[in-house]
Amino acid sequence: MKPFYLTTPLYYVNAKPHIGHAYTNILCDTFARWRRFRGQKVHFLTGTDEHGTKIEKAARAEGKEPRQYVDGMVPQFESLWELLGIRYDDFIRTTEERHKQEVANVLRDLEARGEIYKAGYKGSYCTPCESFWTPLQLAEGKCPDCGREVQELAEENYFFRLSKYRDWLVSFIKDHPGFIRPEIRANEILGFLREPLEDLCITRPRARLAWGIDYPSSREHVVYVWFDALINYVSAVGCTTEEKKFKTYWPADIHVVGKDILRQHAVYWPIMLKALGLEMPRTILAHGWWTMAGAKVSKSRGNAVDPVELCKKYGVDAFRYFLLNEVTVGQDGAFSEDLLAERYTTDLANGLGNLWFRFASMLEKYFQKRIPQLAPEDLKEIKEAESTFYDLWQMVKQKMDQWDPRGALNIIWDVVTWCDGVIEDNKPWVLAKDPTKEKDLRKIMFILGENLAHVACLLQPFLPKTAEQILSRLGLKPPIRVENDGDFSKLFLLPDTLVERGGALFPRLDEEK
Ligand code: MSP
Repeated sequence: MKPFYLTTPLYYVNAKPHIGHAYTNILCDTFARWRRFRGQKVHFLTGTDEHGTKIEKAARAEGKEPRQYVDGMVPQFESLWELLGIRYDDFIRTTEERHKQEVANVLRDLEARGEIYKAGYKGSYCTPCESFWTPLQLAEGKCPDCGREVQELAEENYFFRLSKYRDWLVSFIKDHPGFIRPEIRANEILGFLREPLEDLCITRPRARLAWGIDYPSSREHVVYVWFDALINYVSAVGCTTEEKKFKTYWPADIHVVGKDILRQHAVYWPIMLKALGLEMPRTILAHGWWTMAGAKVSKSRGNAVDPVELCKKYGVDAFRYFLLNEVTVGQDGAFSEDLLAERYTTDLANGLGNLWFRFASMLEKYFQKRIPQLAPEDLKEIKEAESTFYDLWQMVKQKMDQWDPRGALNIIWDVVTWCDGVIEDNKPWVLAKDPTKEKDLRKIMFILGENLAHVACLLQPFLPKTAEQILSRLGLKPPIRVENDGDFSKLFLLPDTLVERGGALFPRLDEEK
């Protein structure tokens, strides 16, 4: 089976990463972990986008050379990914030699195929957005994206023949319903493609912007930052230099991107691949934005939220849980720390954390910390619960097949709520007082433990540390893989295993203070 190849966007390094960037990578990490959990080989690529005006300006503002500046910024991304438990397989920087070489080869190939031409160009240019606009596109003479002043510019550049592929792309999108997800975004792109497509200007004159990859056939030009950056998805797997590696990984199974960069990924990128004679990625998934007071969280709006601070206060898994659970992929989410604190308390501290505490404390009190032995008839009855676990597995799997971690978490949390109900209904502390009910008490405790083990097993891709803690405390050996449905349906617990209660999984916020 081909390794599951998934990618994140390459992050601009002109500011330190914020909650929006953290979200994209947590989402991808969860998908990657889910696949590994299911026994699939994974190739998870992330990295940084380091060329272009934005970066050059940010460097100059700090009185640095761009190279020195980007080298200083990249570790902030690497250390955040480490903190958040993002287990990527490759990290590509667009300033790396391996990438630059591949970009040059790709451009030579496109030129040889007649896909690129040189032409004069005149237009209104917005420097912060690095975009040319036609008079019709301007909004009251200003940039339609950011509303800032534009400059009139005339220059010679290289153009990629985007326009001739419009009809092909429309048919491709219509013939491949899962290609752009969610569906609403596919419709948006089809709407955009109703208008004629213009060819894409893929160079910038060196005189205006020096911080870019050299354009192979002209000393006066550098490659447009978006054109360079998109190529990373194939350059990182050796598109023009490592045939075997490329064949192993390409096509990508999924490119995860934010909705603001969908057009580049769902229009430019497929056409670039088509022009190169390469296969299309299987899915492009566009997620929504995290907002605060109605505005997109971003460095330039000055409302950036620092993931490191939130993780320090609430823990990495709580942060992951909040982002994955608060919105359905594709929709926008309103971020507030109050909301995060509320979910922490209700779902994690009072939910899963408290369930574990109650279970482990009762086990300690009534069974000297050991998973109880069951009478054969009870074991038989419990084994029948295997079909319940089978259903649980099917439901979670179905959600994850639809790239829906929120849906999956909701199903897992239903089990947590169900266990709370079992405790309330059966009152183990009452059973414990009555020696004739000892058999019932054993059964209840076993059922609770078994459900907790299954919950923890399912949580491995989402809350890796918490899942590992619960599994280890139950005497199981994480990571637990579920390659076949049967692996999940079986019972996990071994009677007589010593269970460690351990510290609080999610300490109460007031206790922390
Ligand atoms: N460098 C380009 C991508 C090139 S990919 C070949 C870029 N970089 S970015 O740093 O500006 O954004 C990277 C990702 O972060 C995008 O997917 C973007 O949608 C995401 N987010 C940035 N702010 C965000 C929010 N406030 N909320 C959610 N994600 C957002 O674009």
